[in-house]
Amino acid sequence: MQTEHIKITDPAVQENALARAAEIIRGGGLVVFPTETVYGLGGNATDDSAAQKIYAAKGRPSDNPLIIHIAKPEDAESYAVPNDTYFRLAKAFMPGPLTVILPKRENIPSSVTGGLDTVAVRCPSHPVAHRLIELAGVPIAAPSANLSGKPSPTSAAHVAQDMDGRVDMILDGGECEIGLESTIVKIDGNSLTLLRPGGITYDALCMVCEHVTVADAVTHQLAANERPLSPGMKYRHYAPTAPVVLLDGDTDKVLRFLQAEQDLRRCAILCYDEELPHLKSENLLPVGARNDLDAQAKRLFSALRKADGTDAEIIYAHLPPMEGIGLALYNRMIRAAAHTIKRID
Ligand code: TXA
Ligand code: MG
Repeated sequence: MQTEHIKITDPAVQENALARAAEIIRGGGLVVFPTETVYGLGGNATDDSAAQKIYAAKGRPSDNPLIIHIAKPEDAESYAVPNDTYFRLAKAFMPGPLTVILPKRENIPSSVTGGLDTVAVRCPSHPVAHRLIELAGVPIAAPSANLSGKPSPTSAAHVAQDMDGRVDMILDGGECEIGLESTIVKIDGNSLTLLRPGGITYDALCMVCEHVTVADAVTHQLAANERPLSPGMKYRHYAPTAPVVLLDGDTDKVLRFLQAEQDLRRCAILCYDEELPHLKSENLLPVGARNDLDAQAKRLFSALRKADGTDAEIIYAHLPPMEGIGLALYNRMIRAAAHTIKRID
């Protein structure tokens, strides 16, 4: 398949290109588009065969359901059964990086939801995503636009690495603002379960809902016999070829450990900007200042892709704190590291 690449700098100016992309979606084809979180691999969410094509393009198991993207929060009513809690969340956080699991309606094929009777609904804030959904006139089912098992793409270059020749069109909207996938919550009456942390933090959710529980799989490895609340949590994710080891401990001690390690073996190091002058490994990947968790979130996936492209035999990174967006970073990093945390004392 020949993939068309189009750069979109302003959706209002490039309306014609977006209209063609919308036409492809309506016709059952696949278009990769930017969102504020990561790039999405989009197809018509009401079309069973488009869903099949998405799973095939990603190499994704078809029991791992897709998120449907809508133009306005109230459009959820056409495809799902929202309640009061949904509308409170929508008022607070939509459009934006929040996905809500709701009971599904008949018009969403079961292939989209991996056979579940619930559907994940998200209203993205990125202007290109927003306009594309509007023009398509159908909800767009879109997982992250990476090959299954690779880090989610946060730039069109990442998308091209994974999806060139597998999709009809790639819309290049530059770098994604947040860099980690959306927060996913499941609603039970007035309570929420946080299934995947993201740009909408635990604390922000608590301002809107009294009862918010964090699913075990967010911070812990599930035992072999445990079933995660979100099917995606059971798959190995974001895993570079070389093992990733997360370092936990006093920052000076961790730096001394890294200085010693870089002399002993070929390492790639996801380091803080402040550490750059003190390390000399060939594969230093700065992820932002120590206290700038937003920058670290934005750069994590790109740094993991770069680390994977080196000849490093081991990849080191700092274990982030679990506060704010740090919980989302922590969740993605323990999965990239297959839960390998090394305590440095
Ligand atoms: O930021 C995002 O959410 C990006 C952009 C493109 O919107 N999308 C994304 O999709 O991250 P994906 O497919 O890579 O991750 C969706 C996750 C999966 O872990 C899946 O298991 C879970 O959402 N999920 C989808 N439908 C679900 C449902 N009905 N119940 C529980 N989990 C669900
Ligand atoms: Mg994904």
